[in-house]
Amino acid sequence: MLVLGIETSCDETAAAVVEDGHVIRSSVVSSQIALHAPFGGVVPEVASRAHVDLIAPVIADALGEAGVTLADLDAVAATHGPGLAGALLVGVSAAKALALVGDLPYVGVNHLEAHLYAGWLEQPDLATPFAVLLVSGGHTMLVAVDGPGRYRVLGHTVDDAAGEAFDKVARFLGLGYPGGPVIDRLAREGNRRAIPFPRAMPGELDCSFSGLKTAVVQYVRAHPDVVVADVAASFQEAVVDQLVEKLALAAETTAATTLVLGGGVAANSRLRERTADLAAATGRGVFLPPLALCTDNAAMIAATATFRLVADGPTPLDGGVNPGLGLV
Ligand code: KG4
Ligand code: ZN
Repeated sequence: MLVLGIETSCDETAAAVVEDGHVIRSSVVSSQIALHAPFGGVVPEVASRAHVDLIAPVIADALGEAGVTLADLDAVAATHGPGLAGALLVGVSAAKALALVGDLPYVGVNHLEAHLYAGWLEQPDLATPFAVLLVSGGHTMLVAVDGPGRYRVLGHTVDDAAGEAFDKVARFLGLGYPGGPVIDRLAREGNRRAIPFPRAMPGELDCSFSGLKTAVVQYVRAHPDVVVADVAASFQEAVVDQLVEKLALAAETTAATTLVLGGGVAANSRLRERTADLAAATGRGVFLPPLALCTDNAAMIAATATFRLVADGPTPLDGGVNPGLGLV
């Protein structure tokens, strides 16, 4: 089964062709980072307009790289939530138009489910139950995956997403956007034990980052001569400590056999290192998806659509977008 997936929920315009739910024939991602960087974050209207400009060439590239035409496809899928309303509408409209023209089924995909699916896409024999720490600029949640379509949300952030905390702290420190990769790099030159930033909500499956962000701001204002790399390293360690503690708790409470990371923050080198250490120390397997599958991409959308089309059938063409869509 050949599925074209389209992703436009935030600031990446992406299209991919996936065969049988796990062979990536093409995966094209056009990032809008440079457009949003001057604002220090994603500007919704700027994102929607950029998606309108980019969607047709990105889809054409994905079909071209896969060596297929519309006539070869079995379905067309797009993220229909959660995300920015205007941005989602661009991808969904394009997918529906192609489905109509090609007389193909349309599948609306939940972006959060797709992040969970990225694990299976790369490793179809990933054993369940597994515990996923899904950490991006918009979401931070712990999910128990008991099987395809069988998810339990165990905990989530009560305020900022982890990626949002990286971006806000980086902006405060004048390091640019997006903040995660810059802090990750700078942290390697700093002392992660230099500043004892707080670890919020110990012993709970929910997490919180807004107090940590405030603690960084207060510390830097009180110590203007502090070494910025030490702030980056100590802040990153506080985020990672909190996330890894929750993942350990989630794995224990669900008897998960494998630990999995997903979302853009899963690219963080310290989080990957500590997750691998946790898995080794507790005798569990670990799956750290390649970076291209951690950040937003359309291969995960096409793979999820393949499963959803078989399980639920096509999505009606009058189905809209749902910016606040939850996982379950
Ligand atoms: O999943 P994603 O591409 O987009 C959504 O938010 O859905 O995630 C982007 C987020 C940004 O907040 C970015 O700062 C963060 O992922 N990020 C990182 C790293 N690379 C990207 N955070 C920490 N360390 C990184 N290496
Ligand atoms: Zn995402």
